[in-house]
Amino acid sequence: LDNGLARTPPMGWMHWQRFRCLIDCQAYPDECISERLFRTMAERLATDGYLQAGYEYIMIDDCWASKERDSDGKLQPDPDRFPNGIKPLADYVHSLGLKFGIYGDYGILTCGGYPGSKYHLEVDANTFAEWGVDYLKLDGCYTDFHNIEEGYVEMGKYLNATGRPITYSCSWPAYQEPEGLKSNYTKLAETCNLWRNWDDIEDSWDNVTDIVDWFSGNQDRIANFSGPGHWNDPDMLLIGNYGLSYEQSKAQMAVWAVMAAPLIMSVDLRTIEPQMKNILLNAEAIRVNQDPLGIMGRLVLKKEKIDIWTKPVLPIVKGTNSYAVALMSRRVDGYPRRINVTLSELNITHPGGFILKDIFSPQNEPVAHKDKDVIFIRVPPTGGLLLLATPR
Ligand code: GLA
Repeated sequence: LDNGLARTPPMGWMHWQRFRCLIDCQAYPDECISERLFRTMAERLATDGYLQAGYEYIMIDDCWASKERDSDGKLQPDPDRFPNGIKPLADYVHSLGLKFGIYGDYGILTCGGYPGSKYHLEVDANTFAEWGVDYLKLDGCYTDFHNIEEGYVEMGKYLNATGRPITYSCSWPAYQEPEGLKSNYTKLAETCNLWRNWDDIEDSWDNVTDIVDWFSGNQDRIANFSGPGHWNDPDMLLIGNYGLSYEQSKAQMAVWAVMAAPLIMSVDLRTIEPQMKNILLNAEAIRVNQDPLGIMGRLVLKKEKIDIWTKPVLPIVKGTNSYAVALMSRRVDGYPRRINVTLSELNITHPGGFILKDIFSPQNEPVAHKDKDVIFIRVPPTGGLLLLATPR
């Protein structure tokens, strides 16, 4: 969507993956979906280095709303959990230098059963703008997925008409593709800043690999539709939660960086382990993800059950761009597997060769390689690496 927003993949924090529809504030006062949770996470985002690293949005997902619209037909938050309303929360988020996102649904109800925007698109767009919303995730539960696009286009017009810059995250392919339909990606890129292509991420390595397989399996159809202003979205980062080990977390970060995926964390920032935090804050991984060329990387080689993805990035040296290379191992056989690859096998070529740097292990000295040199790379089982190849 050419609205000047999301020129690089959006980065931020959203509650769903970690906190779901937890609305019992009696039993879980520190975790329930409430003004308190978002104020606390916004403070952590602003002061613990995340905002500085680029994570600028704090976003409410489902289960924030009251089950009833107000007497003017407007959406309103749950009065017990958001006693001051949404606007003061958005103002607070803005006062910390962050941007504010919220969730809606184009259907009759949200996925969690809260009021949807069907028949209320215009009033809801205006309400979001009045509240100071900077990002809208518009879900697609309770819609007819065959005729879902028009509603998203219409909502986009209302959002635009508010005059407020609002990053627009769509979900219609996530309702079409799993049903075997091929979504219209030209229309997606015109209408939305990002879109969820596929099913929800769940907190496990198996689920990460399933999602990665869907994206590589469909890359020739979808990759070219990612670019400045419009991005494919494989869903949130799991890093720091229950399901992924340290090595698996690096693998997710590596592949999400190379896919130019939105980097949306969903983790308890109060209790995250320092080593997981360091993955999320890795400046070079973020730089790969946010590269101005805005190219979605692709799977180029599978070798001994290790997937290798590449993404052209800056800098350009003597006419040749650099490449980020993500390796993701599907192996489960207990020790770091050593594979041999040449850069030319990965379609990475330059007369002078390349300097190869290991982004998550900066203590490993960068090494120069010619295109045809055999390079030995060790990849931990169910883990991953991110390399940067710069022409020399
Ligand atoms: C859908 C979306 C999720 C989340 C939930 C909320 O499943 O895909 O990302 O927003 O709805 O109910």
